Amino acid sequence: MSHSHLDRLTVLGAGVLGGQIGWHSAFKGKNVVIYDPFPEALRKAAVAHDTYAQIYAAELGASPADIAATRARLTLSGDLKAAVARADFVIEAVPEIPETKTRVYNEMAGLLPSHTLVATNSSTLLARDFAEATGRPARFCALHFANLIWRLNVAEVMAHPGTARETLTAVTHFAIEIGMVPIPVQKEQNGYVLNSWFVPLLTAGAALVVNGVATPEDVDRTFLIANRGCAMGPCGMIDMVGMKTAYDVCSYWGAVNNDAQMLKNAAYIKERFLDKGLQGMLGGEGFYRYPNPAYAAPDFLSVPDDSVVPALVDRVMPK
Ligand SMILES: NC(=O)c1ccc[n+]([C@@H]2O[C@H](COP(=O)([O-])OP(=O)(O)OC[C@H]3O[C@@H](n4cnc5c(N)ncnc54)[C@H](O)[C@@H]3O)[C@@H](O)[C@H]2O)c1
Repeated sequence: MSHSHLDRLTVLGAGVLGGQIGWHSAFKGKNVVIYDPFPEALRKAAVAHDTYAQIYAAELGASPADIAATRARLTLSGDLKAAVARADFVIEAVPEIPETKTRVYNEMAGLLPSHTLVATNSSTLLARDFAEATGRPARFCALHFANLIWRLNVAEVMAHPGTARETLTAVTHFAIEIGMVPIPVQKEQNGYVLNSWFVPLLTAGAALVVNGVATPEDVDRTFLIANRGCAMGPCGMIDMVGMKTAYDVCSYWGAVNNDAQMLKNAAYIKERFLDKGLQGMLGGEGFYRYPNPAYAAPDFLSVPDDSVVPALVDRVMPK
């Protein structure tokens, strides 16, 4: 028995983050059910887990036995009642749309065992917005993970005014048990620590492309030269987040803050990617094509041959 006593985890939402949180927690020894009402989402999660199996072997040295044990501890389910029936802990990772989250919490409230703790993985919303809908405000807080959870292992822990100390204690133990560095967020903050700068960075990078100032490659090239050693620039990061969540965040906060650029970015992401079925890194294409995006090429940051000068000048000053 682990210190948190949170051994049976249910993740709501089998998308980009739900799939990663579920897989990673199972890898670290938790018994996990990932719930999603859409069969297609469960199918995609199973494909993503095959990819994670390869990544965990390559990057974390996971053995075939480790991967088999991870799979044995992991169940995908389309039945909410069965998925939460034995849960010690539920992490919600459904779309960043307040009405969707509230609906899921309402639906789940009467199905949970009395001892179950609940956390939201929302990127930009506050736990207080959903506390009542959970039906257990004292047993509810925020636990926010970063995308590529096995590499970017932070977990931001944030309370709402009604969260019990015991809840935060157990959830923080849980974060450590699955190999995360817990970041205590000392005041309620939309976006925690990470997204307080990550979302503005991605918004600014996308705006340069949306407004025709620079190509995605040049936005990222500039970032990567200024931040040598980083894996990707802002447009690559949007691919990593996934176009659906990038769109949800831009359209929601664009409307709330009356931010014309965020709304313009949302419209661009919809038209340029989502309407064409392009989901970002996990789906194989966004600003870049995966698994071998241009920004990972060895010469992406190299000084070019000067034969490219006329083409560069044409882009600054079209004929
Ligand atoms: N993508 C990121 O980089 C990232 C990082 C940290 C946190 N988050 C947060 O995690 C949450 C999920 O984001 P994502 O990027 O995984 O989104 P996503 O769109 O990839 O996945 C959301 C999943 O929720 C499912 N869903 C829809 N309605 C549902 C319901 N009623 N019950 C259960 N599942 C339902 C969808 O089918 C989909 O599979 C959001 O709150 C987001 O802000 C995302």
